[in-house]
Amino acid sequence: MWFRKQSLRAGVGSDVRGSVGRMDGGLQAAEVLPGKWLCIITGSSRGLGRSLAMVLAPRLPPASRLVLVARDAGCLLRLERQLPAGRLRVSRVQADLSGEEGQRRLLSAVSSAQELDEPPDRLLLINNAGSLGDVSKFVVDFTEPSEINSYFAFNFTSPVCLTASLLKAFPKRENFHRTVVNISSLCARQPFKSWSLYCSAKAARAMMFRVLAAEEPDVRVLSYSPGPLDTEMQKTARSETADPELRQTFTDMHRDGRLIDCQESARKLVNILVRDEFQSGAHIDYYDQ
Ligand SMILES: NC(=O)c1ccc[n+]([C@@H]2O[C@H](COP(=O)([O-])OP(=O)(O)OC[C@H]3O[C@@H](n4cnc5c(N)ncnc54)[C@H](OP(=O)(O)O)[C@@H]3O)[C@@H](O)[C@H]2O)c1
Repeated sequence: MWFRKQSLRAGVGSDVRGSVGRMDGGLQAAEVLPGKWLCIITGSSRGLGRSLAMVLAPRLPPASRLVLVARDAGCLLRLERQLPAGRLRVSRVQADLSGEEGQRRLLSAVSSAQELDEPPDRLLLINNAGSLGDVSKFVVDFTEPSEINSYFAFNFTSPVCLTASLLKAFPKRENFHRTVVNISSLCARQPFKSWSLYCSAKAARAMMFRVLAAEEPDVRVLSYSPGPLDTEMQKTARSETADPELRQTFTDMHRDGRLIDCQESARKLVNILVRDEFQSGAHIDYYDQ
């Protein structure tokens, strides 16, 4: 089973933290970045997206804008209150990204914010929002097209259209640096029994981002697989996965403390973005050295 191999390779607890520490390459946790950034993080009300906001915010230069997006407005407000006050402009956008209305709301909020701001010299979009889908079923159980279509509307169509719309709204110009991130998964590359929707949408997303990287050489494109995280999604994985071996693996990982802390994984991604040495279109995993 992959998770056991990965855990052995990367070690657990302090070993994992040690390996991430080495990957920091001497960057200080709170080192403020240059330029003026516009950052959009989808699914920032909890889990990895929330941690990404917490890790990025203190490093964003003054007058940068951070756009937080999710359905749960209360969680977004609580997150904003925990971010460094004063120097950063924060927009909270309550939007259901599974439908066109939610996507329009987000794009309109970004464009209204930009009317108040100086043009950014960096755009960072992190397509993090995602869902597991119904993992209580095997492929032969998916007989209803509407269930598959609605899963793909949120987990594939939405990040594609959001990425495309933002790249159009912020076109190429001199000294303008654009980066788009696809939060991916090992499931984009490997089949997991009873996780067919999740694996398929992650695989489709990963390929879409590779095509984008090939088509738009001036855009920095990254797929990042954050590792098995201790989040709500993992709770669903432990309780609802139909495949008994996979369900047991997640249960064991949780019991043995082998799930990765979201802040650790968020720090790793932020450091990869700050160093900016990845090949555009690459698929990088938390466990990669
Ligand atoms: N957890 C893992 O082990 C793991 C492993 C590999 C990859 N990943 C990936 O990492 C990303 C984050 O996962 P996570 O574990 O942090 O998940 P999570 O705890 O379930 O959080 C998901 C986030 O997406 C938002 N979201 C869900 N449905 C939405 C919708 N219809 N419209 C807008 N936002 C929506 C949620 O906010 P609201 O409910 O407030 O809308 C929440 O902020 C996902 O792309 C996931 O596939 C996770």
